[in-house]
Amino acid sequence: MAILSLVSIGPGDLDYMLPAAMGALRRADVIIGYQIYLDQLRHLIAPHQELVSSQLGQEVERATHAIDMAAAGRNVAMVSSGDIGIYAMASPIFDVLRARDWNGNEPDVEVFPGVSAIQATAAKVGAPLGHDFCTISLSDLLTPWPVIQKRLKAAAWGDFVIGFYNPRSKKRDWQLGYAIDILRDFRPPETPVIIARNVTRPDENIQVVALSEFDPSVVDMFTLVMVGNSQSYTLADRVATPRGYTEKGADRTTAQKEASEAVISYPVSLTKLAGKPATVIGGGPVATRKVDGLLAVEAVVTVVSPELTPQLQALVDAGNVTWVARKYEADDLAAAMLVFAATNDRAVNQQIGEAAAALNILCSVADAPEEGNFHSMAVHRGDSTVLAVGTQGTEPGKAKRLRNQLRWLLENDN
Ligand SMILES: C[S@@+](CC[C@H](N)C(=O)[O-])C[C@H]1O[C@@H](n2cnc3c(N)ncnc32)[C@H](O)[C@@H]1O
Repeated sequence: MAILSLVSIGPGDLDYMLPAAMGALRRADVIIGYQIYLDQLRHLIAPHQELVSSQLGQEVERATHAIDMAAAGRNVAMVSSGDIGIYAMASPIFDVLRARDWNGNEPDVEVFPGVSAIQATAAKVGAPLGHDFCTISLSDLLTPWPVIQKRLKAAAWGDFVIGFYNPRSKKRDWQLGYAIDILRDFRPPETPVIIARNVTRPDENIQVVALSEFDPSVVDMFTLVMVGNSQSYTLADRVATPRGYTEKGADRTTAQKEASEAVISYPVSLTKLAGKPATVIGGGPVATRKVDGLLAVEAVVTVVSPELTPQLQALVDAGNVTWVARKYEADDLAAAMLVFAATNDRAVNQQIGEAAAALNILCSVADAPEEGNFHSMAVHRGDSTVLAVGTQGTEPGKAKRLRNQLRWLLENDN
């Protein structure tokens, strides 16, 4: 009986094609596939074998033609790169068979597996697939974007190592950037990203970069992009993912543990801060973030500091903030409803905390949250919800990451 063989030819170099697939190719009367694959296989093809070259796209036509030839009694080999069952011709073949109420043996169909791009890439760089992984095709030509988006979020949330197929083309140039933005909120900045172009082909090029450094614009359709999970690491020029799992960052400092155990917080949401006096002592990056937060709720902000960041200076110049251009003095708190102690001097911050306590003023001490009586949380304002995540003030980076992760779940909830 004639057989339709679905033959995987591997990622490029025919050393990566399995012997069973080679055997199926040899037994075929007709070989059908893209010209580029037929060219690749030419020294395996015998003169009596008929070649049918197909165009890019037209998967259903190609599947139908292959099935028709096999049903007419010819041994047909349909060839596809990598593994024919992974984003390739095996599924259109079965779709056509289903539409025809195929009885399972007319024609007989056999699938010959192969090395997919993700496996070839993994082998080239070490052992990045040592724990749970998934693949996501970023092509929204056949799959609606909301479905891809949902899977991206689930894979990010599930901390899977992800192999992105069809990552980026001239017409689809933003999807990979979107995916990476999600992953940056879920995984540490040093998470390895493997950019594997034309793996096992003559112009193979494989690079490993940190998630924080990755630039999606270097990627094209001949590339597989693999992003490690939160445990993946680089070793020399290789990448591996441990089979076991430890929570990175679980080794908190004693000071952090003591602080979070000592403080019992009572989260509230302060409202009507518009027009209320708030004082920020300090003029560095931390102070700048606090000023930004206060201006967002329209508080009347005074900054006390001999120096300012350029951003703060711009706010002062624009008249949005009052600047007292000197070091902290005891009566700076008198008019304030709330105070941020954000200098780079530990002793001064401590003094501010004590002075504020004596005056019953709300005070947040940037470098020692337990010395103040509030700390700000990482906030996301949705249409009708406010999401605030805090860690007793001791791990602002973790609070921010968690806030970002929850935001992805809240936004575009489909
Ligand atoms: C339509 S999918 C076909 C996947 C193929 N069936 C497999 O199992 O590898 C095409 C995508 O696979 C990836 N790909 C296939 N071969 C590759 C190779 N040799 N090097 C890098 N990426 C490859 C690229 O992401 C490309 O855009």
